[in-house]
Amino acid sequence: MNRRKILVANWKMYKTGAETLLFFEELKSLLPQKTSVEMVVAPPFTSLEAASKLSKSCGVKLSAQNMHWEEKGAFTGEISASMLKALFCEYVILGHSERRHIFHETDQEIHSKIKAALQHDLKIILCVGENLEERESNQTSSVLEKQLLSGLSGVSKAQLSQWVIAYEPVWAIGTGKVAEPAQAEEAHRFIRRKIWDTYDMDVAAALPILYGGSVKAENFKAISSQPNVDGALVGGASLQAKSFIEILKQMT
Ligand code: PGA
Repeated sequence: MNRRKILVANWKMYKTGAETLLFFEELKSLLPQKTSVEMVVAPPFTSLEAASKLSKSCGVKLSAQNMHWEEKGAFTGEISASMLKALFCEYVILGHSERRHIFHETDQEIHSKIKAALQHDLKIILCVGENLEERESNQTSSVLEKQLLSGLSGVSKAQLSQWVIAYEPVWAIGTGKVAEPAQAEEAHRFIRRKIWDTYDMDVAAALPILYGGSVKAENFKAISSQPNVDGALVGGASLQAKSFIEILKQMT
């Protein structure tokens, strides 16, 4: 099965608008002539507009890192799906572990965001992953299943065809501790199997599943060559155009 390969940069709370422009200028000079990998950058909200000026000429799509489920209203500090669409966002990352753990987002809240994103035709990058304690007590599969099924509830097969799932073991995010290729493959296979059981083989076979957690060029080749790994969601190593492109090179 020839699945889409995707590389996503999650900048978290880094880069002003000016720094964003510099990144894209550098990226442009480093881009390979041709790549079959879909590249997506998720800047902070305040840099989306700057990113939208140059991303297209680099063939890069834009994603938001989060959003609120309401359309509009008295929600100080929040951003809606239609605001993201107005800034040319094609994707939104939902359920990132930093949202789940630092900001205590629940599966229910994430699901409300998913419903709002779907209403606005935003493509969803749903993050799932276990923490260290859960892995060590053999709960990885049950945690993944719970996060996945809660996110997918009420989602049709046609809607799912626009999704990307990111497996991000919490213990590997920003820690320098990357999952073993076999550990990543096992989790990705489990996720694909769950999608198959919940929907069908075709939708499961076509769904891109990305790995995230301390990805850099030096460790990604081995992970990327696993049969169920279709790309990466990269934090730290995506902040420099050069290291981001080095990861891209491991995928082709
Ligand atoms: P990291 O972050 O690559 O810095 O570990 C990954 C992520 O949070 O998506």
